[in-house]
Amino acid sequence: MEGIGKLLGLVILFFYGLTVLNFFIKYILKHFRPQLMEHPKFFKFYMKVVKFFVTYHKWFGFATIVAIGAHFAIQFTTRGLNISGVIAASAMLLQVLLGVYGKYFHPKNKIWLWVHRIIAIIIAVAILVHIGSGD
Ligand code: HEM
Ligand code: HEM
Repeated sequence: MEGIGKLLGLVILFFYGLTVLNFFIKYILKHFRPQLMEHPKFFKFYMKVVKFFVTYHKWFGFATIVAIGAHFAIQFTTRGLNISGVIAASAMLLQVLLGVYGKYFHPKNKIWLWVHRIIAIIIAVAILVHIGSGD
């Protein structure tokens, strides 16, 4: 059972990684567009990559929550409550709710997006603490 719990932890990391890739892929597009356009074939391919990560961003986010639910169910029943894990998971849940708010409630200003970016960093720190501390 412990192996599955660990594997599910890695699955969360995998999907979290795919959600934040959206930021880096768009950053490269924004800051290196002229260089990318020097290679038309690659640029065309790169735009498809951008579209892929923007389109599936929310699904990667939802997948993290599903994997967290499974990881939590196994870890909680076999090892009990884990404080750093719960902190990381709570930040992730908040992040998904904020993403849903930003996407479907059409807020007038972009403050939510900045908060969304900052929480992404807080999640990364929380995950490092969780994996590093073991409790
Ligand atoms: C964002 C949320 C989370 C992520 C990304 C995550 C990720 C991971 C990973 C990758 C491991 C394996 C570490 C290793 O053995 O090298 C792990 C272990 C563990 N996780 Fe989580 N986890 C999260 C949330 C939670 C929650 C909510 C709980 C609550 C019970 C939890 C409990 C545990 C426990 C008990 C271990 C075993 C620790 C150990 O072997 O010392 N995790 N987690
Ligand atoms: C693990 C969960 C999530 C993480 C770590 C995350 C992270 C991020 C980050 C770093 C950005 C900034 C990208 C940029 O600067 O353009 C972003 C943008 C965005 N996120 Fe999330 N997000 C998550 C879940 C969600 C969910 C579930 C939704 C919607 C249902 C969502 C909706 C959005 C929207 C609409 C944007 C604006 C830009 C775009 O469409 O790419 N996010 N997210």
